[in-house]
Amino acid sequence: MIIEIQRYCENRQPENSIMIEYEVPEGMTLLEALQFIKTKKDPTLTFNHGCRSEVCGSCAMRVNDKEVLACGYRLQEGDVVTPLSKMKIIKDLVVDYQKAQETLSRVKSWYAEPSAIMIQSKEDEKAIEKQTDCILCSSCFSSCPVLEVDENFLGPFALTRAYRYTNDSRYDGEKEIIDAVQEKGVWDCTLCGECTIACPQGIDPKMDIMMLRAKSVQQGYSDPSFASGGDDFLSGGFNPNF
Ligand code: SF4
Ligand code: SF4
Ligand code: FES
Repeated sequence: MIIEIQRYCENRQPENSIMIEYEVPEGMTLLEALQFIKTKKDPTLTFNHGCRSEVCGSCAMRVNDKEVLACGYRLQEGDVVTPLSKMKIIKDLVVDYQKAQETLSRVKSWYAEPSAIMIQSKEDEKAIEKQTDCILCSSCFSSCPVLEVDENFLGPFALTRAYRYTNDSRYDGEKEIIDAVQEKGVWDCTLCGECTIACPQGIDPKMDIMMLRAKSVQQGYSDPSFASGGDDFLSGGFNPNF
């Protein structure tokens, strides 16, 4: 079968990229096909991978403009493979994750000091179980349309991380996190849901952002775009039917 791969973007200049067609055997995953091309056709093809079993998140890229993990995606005829979006390309399918990862430090979501009591009940564990599954693949970041127009938006996985910590029974800094997600954060999201569709772990950043909005309202914040008030103002824009 024939697939196309975006190649030759070097020194972070996407304008140098070109699409190259490759013939690969039927039935391969995308990662198997990339390894086939690298070993049999062109050793300069550059891509990231690690676990090969959809665990580490390092092989995220795009196929036909949708984010996938290369090790879990089975190729189809005519597929078009490109690197993740919203981050600078280093080479071929490798992007610079620094900008995405820096958003984590902005939401101040970590244990500053080990708490005296770190024991969790099963219920406490359940409350943060889903968000804890994040493998930091950046697929949601790549899919977010707000980051297309505002590169300072916190983005979905940092906000999911923030929500996880506000729900963690071992953490007592909720107010600090809620303060940190106001600027270029919860109110800038359009609730489009692209991040939720992109997540290979089944995490729902859009819902987490809606829950953060509700928590923000409880802390006295309001949506800056609802200056005149109304139902959405009172509920922090939380609409479970979204
Ligand atoms: S729901 Fe919000 S964070 Fe997720 S992709 Fe849409 S705008 Fe971005
Ligand atoms: S929330 Fe999902 S898509 Fe986003 S970084 Fe984590 S695992 Fe990847
Ligand atoms: S190689 Fe680890 S998720 Fe694909």
